[in-house]
Order: sequence, then structure tokens, then C-alpha cells
Amino acid sequence: MQRRKLMLGLLGLASGSGMAGAYLASRQQASSVSPTPMPSAQATGSSPTPPPPTPVPTATVVAHPAAPNGLFIPPRRDLRLLVISDMNAAYGSVEYDPEVDRGIGLIPYFQPDIVLGGGDMVAGQDPRLSEERIRAMWAAFDRHVAGPIREAKIPYGFTLGNHDASCARSTRGGFLFQKERDLAREFWNDPAHDPGLTFVDRGDFPFYYTFEKDDVFYLTWDATCNFIPPEQMEWAEAALASERAQAAKLRIVIGHLPLYAITVGRNDPGEVLLEADAKRALLEKYRVHTYISGHHHGYYPGHKGKLQLLHCGILGSGPRPLLDSPLPPRKTLTLVDVDFATPDITYYTTYHMRDLSVIEQAELPRFITGHNGLVLRRDVNWDALSPEEIATCQGRIGSLCRD
Ligand SMILES: [Fe+2]
Ligand SMILES: [Fe+2]
Repeated sequence: MQRRKLMLGLLGLASGSGMAGAYLASRQQASSVSPTPMPSAQATGSSPTPPPPTPVPTATVVAHPAAPNGLFIPPRRDLRLLVISDMNAAYGSVEYDPEVDRGIGLIPYFQPDIVLGGGDMVAGQDPRLSEERIRAMWAAFDRHVAGPIREAKIPYGFTLGNHDASCARSTRGGFLFQKERDLAREFWNDPAHDPGLTFVDRGDFPFYYTFEKDDVFYLTWDATCNFIPPEQMEWAEAALASERAQAAKLRIVIGHLPLYAITVGRNDPGEVLLEADAKRALLEKYRVHTYISGHHHGYYPGHKGKLQLLHCGILGSGPRPLLDSPLPPRKTLTLVDVDFATPDITYYTTYHMRDLSVIEQAELPRFITGHNGLVLRRDVNWDALSPEEIATCQGRIGSLCRD
């Protein structure tokens, strides 16, 4: 109820702003503004009035101090996921870039059902950091991000990143960042930091676990380095194969490292999960809809085979350019609106954090050729590639140029 009241308040704001109103008109579907014709039966009174048609969801625009053209709010569908990632600043920092606070400050406008985090919440992966400093870093994360989400009573489903709790190992087999892993575990298992999730299997929380929310089954795995041990993969397969997972309306997997490389400076085997094709085949087998990842610091809405690949943008320090793209690097966050009844199911709205403008999908490259495979933009199918595009792709990655 509170949510609806707030939306009405925001709508009131929008209608009071000429600029926002004009922008709204340009974004709306014509069908959403045409008057509803009077049913003929009502005019004659000869039969009962038919029920009104289900309203078409409409987008709106609200005034926002950081959005010169107003803040575009996509139409509400069944569910709304707010996806944020890579929030840390320089090693050891207890500060956050202003875009992090700005992103969290948008929660009252977006009213998501859940917030999903792609990892790199604090600025670790540095053996020189003391326990005291790492605790201070997590406390800062709680002040800027986790605390406000918790206070808004919105669950926070996250995966850890290499800067939170890297799983990199020494030649003797131990974790290189055991202290950081211990302190990440300590922070997330403190009841004061309860992320408000409905766990299905706590697995080895916060490293890998499953949870449910609104008919969506979520699995997060420990992709804080490029190698996921076989026993964890067996756990993941059993979890995805379970009746509970299969009965859900949608399955989403979240891990920090992506399957395929997409940005400059991250086009390297250490920056993506090993055996990406085999992992993708596993996710496809159990009808996972989307793999959400961070780490590459660039937004790219992709797909490969039957799997949607949402490469989160970054809110913190160090945005990176996409491979083979002239676009400048930028910080973003993404809303994923879910409509179970439509073929696409998920609808992305991604904001440029500079001015909260919406990034048009068409401005992004139609495909990206990283060192370990081709990723197609989510609205581009393999069959739609031109002979020139296929030649370009093959020139870059040879036989890896396939869907
Ligand atoms: Fe990162
Ligand atoms: Fe990372």
C-alpha cells in the first residue's frame, strides 16, 4: 500500500513538470493514452456490462534532481529486480563513489521487489589490509548500501566478488585471501546484517547458496576466481535439478565472473570462468533463464545459446570500455522487469549514472568477440548476422565464432 501511495506521489510530481511531461509523451505507447470507447451493450442496456480490459502497463517519468530530462520509470510488470554491481573504490577504501549513493537513492523511485548484487562490494584483495580495516570496509558498505536496502525492507541477493573474498589459491592449495573470506563470512552471518532472503539451501552462505522470491529460484555460486571446484558444481547441479528449482517460474544464477569476456583489460582467461561452454550447457540443461555477472565493469545485455547473459555495469570505480567498441566507459545500473506471460520474460532498463538517462540497447555493439567466445546482443540472433559481420567475427576469433 505504501508503495502505491509513493507511486501516486511520484506521478503527481511528473505531471507537475512540463519537461518531464513532454519526455513522458515521447516515450508512451499510443495505446496507453487513447480513450476507452463506450461498450455498445452499456448504451442499449440489453446485456451486462463487460469487464474493463486489463490496462496496458505504461511507463512514466518523474522529476529527479540528478535527471535533467526526468527519471524514466518503466512499466511495472510481474516483478522488478534492481541489479547493482562492482561498488568498491581503491584498495582499502572506506569511501564510495557518489554514483553508489545515487543508485541506492533511486530505490524509493524504482520500488524493486528485490535488489541483486553482482559482487565487489568492498575494496579488498590486498594482503596488507588488517582485520580492523576490512571490518571498517564492510561497515562502510553497510552504511552506504546494505543498510539502506535492509531499512527499505527489500531483500538483497548477492554474489561475492574477488575484492570481497577471492577464491584464488596458492600453489599449496590454501586460499590466498583466507582472512578476507573469513571476514566476509562473519559480516554476512551477523544477524544485524540479515539480507532478508528466503533461503532454499544455505549451502555455504555467503559463498554459494540458493533462495526464492516471487516464484523465481536464484542460485549464487562462488565465482570470485575463475575456478569453481567440482564439488561445488555438483551442488549447483543438484540444486538446479531439484523439484523446487524446476517448479519455479524462472531460474536465475548469479556469479561474479562472467562466462565470456566482454571488456577491455578483462579479455583474459583469469577474468572469466573456466570451462564456460560446459557451465553454460549445465545452466541451459536446467532451464536457467539468465546468468548475471559483474567484474568486467561494463554493461552488456547479451545472450548465447539458450542462456541470457546480463553483464552488469559498475557503480564504483573503474568503468571499462566494451571490446571493439568506440563507446566511452560509463557507470550504470539496471532494472529487470519480469513478465512471466511474455516470450521474452525479462525487460531491461539501464541508466547512465551521469544523468540517469536510459541507455538504448541499439547503441551497444551487436556482438562482442572475447577471447573465449562470441556473445550476441540480446535482441540479435545468430541468423541475423550479415556475411560481413560473420567474416569480422571469424577474423577475430576463428572457430569460436558461433552461437
Ligand atoms: Fe569489480
Ligand atoms: Fe571483480
